[in-house]
Amino acid sequence: MKNFELYNPVKLIFGKDQLAKLADEIPENAKVLFTYGWGSIKKNGIYNAVVTELKGLEIVEFGGIEVNPQYETLLKAVALAKKEAIDFILAVGGGSVIDATKFIAAAICFEGDSPWDILAKGVKVKKAIPFGCVLTLPATGSEMNSGAVITKAETQEKMAFGSPLLFPKFSFSNPQVIASLPKRQLQNGVVDAFMHVMEQYLTHNTQALLQDRIAEGILKTLIEIGPKVIKNPTDYKLASNFMWCCTMALNGLLSKGVPVDWATHMIGHELTALHGIDHAQSLAVIAPNLYAVMKTDKYDKLVQYGKRVWQLSGSDDDIADKAIEKTRTFFINLGVHTKLSQYTNDYKNTAQFITERFKNRGWLGLGEQQNITLEKVREIVEMSY
Ligand code: NZQ
Ligand code: ZN
Repeated sequence: MKNFELYNPVKLIFGKDQLAKLADEIPENAKVLFTYGWGSIKKNGIYNAVVTELKGLEIVEFGGIEVNPQYETLLKAVALAKKEAIDFILAVGGGSVIDATKFIAAAICFEGDSPWDILAKGVKVKKAIPFGCVLTLPATGSEMNSGAVITKAETQEKMAFGSPLLFPKFSFSNPQVIASLPKRQLQNGVVDAFMHVMEQYLTHNTQALLQDRIAEGILKTLIEIGPKVIKNPTDYKLASNFMWCCTMALNGLLSKGVPVDWATHMIGHELTALHGIDHAQSLAVIAPNLYAVMKTDKYDKLVQYGKRVWQLSGSDDDIADKAIEKTRTFFINLGVHTKLSQYTNDYKNTAQFITERFKNRGWLGLGEQQNITLEKVREIVEMSY
């Protein structure tokens, strides 16, 4: 097992009927920026519930944060927060609103020329406004991690950043919120959480026995409940287990002491930036092909995954191949397409564009062993057409 440090200060407040504690978690006399998306919270009652709990506090609203939050929009929130001398932010939404809030929190305190440098140049976040979350969509784990992904519309770039200063102070996770989610977002949530585990599990063997078993436990739980929760999101048993899987998949625990891949996410972000396809859909398109191309490097783990997660038998080589197909079929059976051509007709230059862009960024080798070369990226993306 590799050396590691574990730090996660998020106070996760999980379950039903917990929102009455919201005001207690916000610093006294704070002037709060209340961030949210395109209005789902006004339809499902979450907006009213939050406003009721915040009575007496000074609140400034910033709604209209889009899916795959855009830098250009967030600069407006930063300007508003500075003008209003905000000292706390409350994010009410899914991964997009929470990620946006992390960026706003850092950008308010940024002292350089352009806060885009935090993403494009990896400039370190030195200070951030504290924030908390009310999660409305289980998928990303953003409610309990310190990372975020932001898109620059002008250049069609989608980039990730993170900082230990960007853990939420608290996150309210009420599984009942999934009742109002469109089916597509439930499907996306299962795929995204599944892929977060895979990125930290399907690498090469490092004798991290417990990490493997925790990862396999989450994968098996998602296989068990994923199809059911999509059909029946008001079932509390399903909803609560689904929500906890999503948080556990990316709250930092699984990656401790093990190598991590994240190449599917990095290539997937390009598909979202170029073609506007949902984050989870981009992962369903890339992952099975990436595993096929990297089969030799990931062989031992593919076989372990096939045996333990899918109960496959036969020769190891057969199991490795079948495990990849099981993954693809799982996504398809959830209702998520796994081919780029099923999302867009304009896909033919995608591989060329992505490899050029990665080359310009100096991203010459992705994955746990940095051996997913540009040629392999091209092959993976072309297989996805
Ligand atoms: O904008 P509103 O009106 O709120 O509607 C949203 C949006 O249309 C809607 N929604 C959310 N909660 C709802 C609801 N509709 C009805 N009822 C509810 N309770 O769902 C739509 C999608 O929301 P979004 O926040 O975009 O989804 P998700 O949570 O999947 O977040 C995706 C973003 O997170 C990033 C992705 O790249 C993408 O930008 N990720 C963040 C990560 C992280 N911070 O650790 C890791 C992930 O790998 C991912 O990259
Ligand atoms: Zn993801």
